This record gives sequence, structure tokens and C-alpha cells, in this order.
Amino acid sequence: LKESRRILDSNQPTPAIPFQHGLSAIASFPIDVWVKLTNRNYYYLQRNNFGYGEPAGYSPLRHAVANYLNAFRAVKCNPEQVIITNGAQHAFDLIGRVCLAPKTDVLMEDPGYVSARQAFQSFGATIIPVRVDANGFDLDSALSESRNARLAYVTPSHQFPLGVTMSLSRRLQLLEWAKRANAWIVEDDYDSEFRYEGRPLPSLQGIDQDGRVFYIGTFSKTIFAALRLGCLVVPPDLIDIFAAVRALNGLHSPLIAQATLAAFIDEGHFTRHIRRMRKLYRERQEILVSECEKLLAGKIDVKLSESGMHLIGWLNEGVDDRDMSERAASVGIKAASLSSFSFNEVSRGGLILGYTSTNEKQIKQGVKKLAQIFVSNKT
Ligand SMILES: Cc1ncc(COP(=O)(O)O)c(C=O)c1O
Repeated sequence: LKESRRILDSNQPTPAIPFQHGLSAIASFPIDVWVKLTNRNYYYLQRNNFGYGEPAGYSPLRHAVANYLNAFRAVKCNPEQVIITNGAQHAFDLIGRVCLAPKTDVLMEDPGYVSARQAFQSFGATIIPVRVDANGFDLDSALSESRNARLAYVTPSHQFPLGVTMSLSRRLQLLEWAKRANAWIVEDDYDSEFRYEGRPLPSLQGIDQDGRVFYIGTFSKTIFAALRLGCLVVPPDLIDIFAAVRALNGLHSPLIAQATLAAFIDEGHFTRHIRRMRKLYRERQEILVSECEKLLAGKIDVKLSESGMHLIGWLNEGVDDRDMSERAASVGIKAASLSSFSFNEVSRGGLILGYTSTNEKQIKQGVKKLAQIFVSNKT
């Protein structure tokens, strides 16, 4: 470990790109703990002569994930329902393989997560964009567009990218629709651990009485994206088909990484790390908002949020967010435009400002750079 550090320290670190969204604070991850657990698992593997593993996932990890989801996300599941995937993206693909055929209508939040949309489109699905208002996914408007949808994709805890929470009445309405229409709901619970006020909101899956919800969790936000591990909780009657499809699709996720994650969760490091990151991310969010208020007042409207890993910097009416995003890129800032996540024209443009992987100094420098692009834009 010392030797690896020495080699790394002699190289210049790669600076984080200010405001890239969805990345964890990797510099604050307890990497020494992770490396120790990984080493331990290599010796364990050698002693036990490991070969291939179970397609649905390494059993201790499925147990650890089920316990965690029950306790912290109010997900109702047993370990057999947990399929270990290579991140949320992989879960979208598995669901597509099982549930979609060409021309199947899929209801999707608009604006929404483009990579999920593309995964479903790759199976020939027809995407029906659905309006998102202050209560989240608006099912009534969706049903006026499609009467025979088989799948609805939602981010109920923290809508991506707008950040609203789906109300209880909308959740119940969506579950009722899925039951009636014999359809499926994909609950993408990508960043719900980062709630700064009150307790994290319970999952939609936890109030589903009819086995219509696929719950997706990812370790990209709570640990780091390069790990490529996530989970998919399926209804009990679909365990076998998903395990079979998982086997055909890459066989299983790397065993050492799964075993390391299981130990990381079981030995308490995971919840401790989340607690520390919650505090850090909240501080970073506050710094971002106060810097924007100082240097970008009247140009970008950013409000504190009680959850998530990014904020939307709303632009003035008539300002083209794609153009501003390109200008930001030209000064080394990655601030995606709201339009790039939208099917329909947005009524007001915005920049998506991630703050979790950007430290205090970088946030301050980043806001200064953003201010420069507004001076040259004169809007
Ligand atoms: C809405 C949403 N879902 C899921 C993910 C995570 O994807 P993955 O687990 O494939 O890294 C992200 C990451 O940016 C996201 O924004």
C-alpha cells in the first residue's frame, strides 16, 4: 500500500471537473479500508478455490443488501429477490430483456434520465414522455398519451434532474395503474441516501402490495462509479427468469468486488461513510449556493435543496441553456443543460450543477469561471 501511494504521489493528481453531476467525493472515500478488505478477499478466494459464482450475485452480498434496503429504504424483500448488477445501467438492460418488445410503450419522466431512456429504446420501445410537476410524475397526462403502456420509469425519491419528490397520492395512483394495466414500474432510487433534512423517504417498492415494482439501487453514488455494482430487486415470481437472464448477460458481477462490498456493508463501514458524506455534501451544497448568490445574482437562480447530489441553476427566461453549457465547457466546467435531458422544449433553461465531487476551493473557482461566461454573454 505504501509503495502504491509513493508512486501515485509522485504524479500530479487529475483535478476534478467542477460541477460534473452524479459523482461521489472519491477523495473522501476510506480507500485503505477498501484495499484491506479486498486483500483479505483475495486470500479467501485462493483458500476456497473459487471459480464461477452465482449469476444472481454472491450470497453474502445479497443478504447484506437485502438487510440494508429493509432497514434504510423500507424495501420489502428477501435476499433471493436481490439480483446484483453492474450498476443501475445494467438493471435497465435486464428489465428491457425481460419486459420489452419492439413498439412497447414506456412512460418516462420528462425531463429525465437519458441513459435509462436509451436502454429501453435499444429494445425498440416507444418512449412516451411524461410531464413532471411539483408532485412528480403526472400519470394523468401520461394516460392521455398512451393507454397501453407496459412500463413506467420513475425516480420518486428525488426526481432526476428536477429534484422533486413524488407525493404519496401520486405513488398510490401509479401503483393502482400498474395493477390495473398489468404493467411494471421501474423505481430508480439512485441518490436517496443523500437527504439532508429529516429521514430518507421510504421507497415506492415498500408500499407496493401487488409485486409490480422493480427497485433499482446503485453503489455508484454511495461508494464510487468505477466500482460498477448495483442491485435490482424483483418481485418473487420473477426471480428465476431474472437470474437466467443475468446468467446469459455476462454471467455475474466480479466476485472479489462483490465480496469486498459485502464485508464493507456488514462491518458497518457503508453506513458510516454515508453519514460522513451526507455532512460533507450538505456543506458543499451550502458553499455552492452562497457563492452563486455572491457572484451570479440575477444570472443564475440556485436554491438550497433538502436532498440530492446536484442543484439546478435556473437561467433567465430566453437564455439558451445548451449554449451556456457549451460556454461553460470552454472554460473547463461541466454543467449539463436541462434541455439535454428533455424530450420537449423546456419552458425555462437551467444548468445542472453537481457539487459532491467538487471541493470548497474548486467550487469557489468554478463559480468565478461561470461568472465570466455570463459577462461575455451579457444576459
Ligand atoms: C438517474 C440516475 N440513475 C442511475 C444512475 C447510476 O447509474 P449507474 O449505477 O449505472 O452508475 C445515475 C447516475 O448518474 C442517475 O443519474
